[in-house]
Amino acid sequence: MAKKSKIAILTGGGDCPGINAVIRAVAKKAMLELGLEVVGISDGYEGLLHNRHRILHYEDVSGIINLGGTILGTSNKANPYRCPVKKEGSLEFKDLSQAVIDNFVRLEVECLVCIGGDGTLSIANRLYKDGLPVIGIPKTIDNDIRGTDITFGFDSAVYVATEGLDRVRTTAQSHHRVMIVEVMGRNAGWIALQAGIASGADVILIPEIPYDLDIIAEKVNDRDCRGKRFTITVISEGARPKGGEKVVQRIVKESTDPIRLGGIGFVLGSEIEAETGIETRTVVLGHLQRGGVPTPFDRVLATRLGTKAVDMLMEGRFGQMVGVKGNDLVEVSLEEVARGQRRVPVGDALIVSARSVGTCFGDIRDVMPQV
Ligand code: F6P
Repeated sequence: MAKKSKIAILTGGGDCPGINAVIRAVAKKAMLELGLEVVGISDGYEGLLHNRHRILHYEDVSGIINLGGTILGTSNKANPYRCPVKKEGSLEFKDLSQAVIDNFVRLEVECLVCIGGDGTLSIANRLYKDGLPVIGIPKTIDNDIRGTDITFGFDSAVYVATEGLDRVRTTAQSHHRVMIVEVMGRNAGWIALQAGIASGADVILIPEIPYDLDIIAEKVNDRDCRGKRFTITVISEGARPKGGEKVVQRIVKESTDPIRLGGIGFVLGSEIEAETGIETRTVVLGHLQRGGVPTPFDRVLATRLGTKAVDMLMEGRFGQMVGVKGNDLVEVSLEEVARGQRRVPVGDALIVSARSVGTCFGDIRDVMPQV
């Protein structure tokens, strides 16, 4: 009997709602329409390095469209070009890409489908340039991948963040407090922006617009004077004051991107309380935003992206990522994706709309009529 053609699939970087829906879409289409065998690589590039993989059967990818996390496991510490290796108690980084390439060749697969964020896809680009047939699929709650209007996982994260903001409103109104919700987003404020607009937050603070504490305090005081004795603020973990720094929570040395942010919401909370005298509390949503079931939107997007990726691999269009422009699926070169992150433009239409309804971004004084 002739050997079946095979493809491999891996998931890298932080987990995010919708990954399993993509794995399902790629694997089901490959199996049902093309009769391909699908190899699941464990824990991202780590699995390629250490030869950890398994054949995925139909049953493995059936019934997982609504399952959070990734059935393959993931890692954000295994960059084949800069692998952390412990030597005599200290950490060294080695280029082990040749071992990864050799292991890939031994798998005898036609293509490697990489589901990941900017880190995973930049590595995919290097592997492509080193000869691997790679196709990328954009995954991240941060929505910061170049070449696509949206990544799967983002809608689910915005849903959780919006619910968090809606819920703190109860306490804010009842206790006449300032409530701050810190959301993820290291360099791009898409989650804060969309969840802030969706929940009617009074103040939205994002990495792209450094804030001025005095302007925020004025907004809080002004609302208080008008009888709105509470203020809802959403802040990205990567936000910072004008002339100030981001708040680093920890350094994960082995990681491709070692800085972990967190805590700016608490810093801002104490400053607002000191400046206004109004009790201020902070909630950090953290990984709650990455967990749980994907929204229907993300499940549909994941299915579209996954099935399109199979079309691309059948046509041999390697070195490309499937992206979204408007309502259409597009192909974007991984080279373009690797150029950097997609941040919120300061003149973005969403920011303009939010300003029009009186939302403060911490940079411009309020234009509300005086009472
Ligand atoms: O890139 C997605 C992301 O969720 C960031 O917003 C966040 O800073 C980071 O991952 C946290 O990663 P970890 O799970 O390693 O703490």
